[in-house]
Amino acid sequence: MALQEEQKKILCVGLVCLDIISVVDKFPQEDSDSRCLSQRWQRGGNASNSCTVLSLLGSPCAFMGSLCAGPVASFILEDFQRFQVDVSLLRKCGCGAPTSLVISNNGTGSRTILHSNSNIAEVTLDDFNAVDLSAFKWIHWEGRNADEQVKMITRVERYNQTVAPERMIVVSVEIEKPREKLYQLFDRADVVFVSKDVARHLGFQTPTCALRGLRPRLRPGAVLICAWAEKGADAADADGTLLHSDAFPPERVLDTLGAGDTFNAAVIHKLARGRPLQEALTFGCRVAGAKCGFHGYDDIAHTGLI
Ligand code: FRU
Repeated sequence: MALQEEQKKILCVGLVCLDIISVVDKFPQEDSDSRCLSQRWQRGGNASNSCTVLSLLGSPCAFMGSLCAGPVASFILEDFQRFQVDVSLLRKCGCGAPTSLVISNNGTGSRTILHSNSNIAEVTLDDFNAVDLSAFKWIHWEGRNADEQVKMITRVERYNQTVAPERMIVVSVEIEKPREKLYQLFDRADVVFVSKDVARHLGFQTPTCALRGLRPRLRPGAVLICAWAEKGADAADADGTLLHSDAFPPERVLDTLGAGDTFNAAVIHKLARGRPLQEALTFGCRVAGAKCGFHGYDDIAHTGLI
């Protein structure tokens, strides 16, 4: 029997990795030997973090990405389960676990990431061909192996041509890293999240300039969203209307790791429920802002925003 729209999940395709996080109150000096305030393992990766937040907000979701075998994989799998993220589309691979060493500075809220990718075998069209698209209402791609991701998106576009409008899958992409290859994703999605980093790399010094300058790269009717840290976030709606939300910083910024992934998830959560873009943008800023006030993601459940 066909799933009802509200039973359908949001699928996030991208990276899952291990974050080994050392919390300090002062950034260490090079070649020094100091103690940190605490240390923890956390499941990381943009798409994986966004799944955590979607789940906490009450959007059923699934993750698709590669995972090695071994003790780190067990940690990651258990953590996905803790947040009720569907992992049936995880792709087992023989590589090592991608790992980030993160210095999280309680003093400033900064997060310094040293990432090692261990030649992860990314999800391919072949893997994606096995996905039952009728289970999903929204698919989000963290821009990575863009050549292959474009092929996967093409599959969704073809699928969308065969179903009634209300059953069409919304496609979103995140273009976070300033890599030329990723820019082919600009015109392949209904909703495009572009980072401040990419916007600046392409020569835009303000969010408004970024929206105006980048919108022509999108397909007609697509939405462009650009978060700009403490300046909040801006968006261009399907008809080109420019929208803005201020940031909502917590009293004390403690941990900004995954704030962008949190923002993306919160925006998708609202849009996938048919809420207006302005509401989604403001909600994204509120949830991401709140997240910066505590470590990890669990406390999102207690922010009173849900
Ligand atoms: C945060 C994050 C971390 C991960 C790193 C990978 O956005 O996904 O969890 O270590 O970025 O670039």
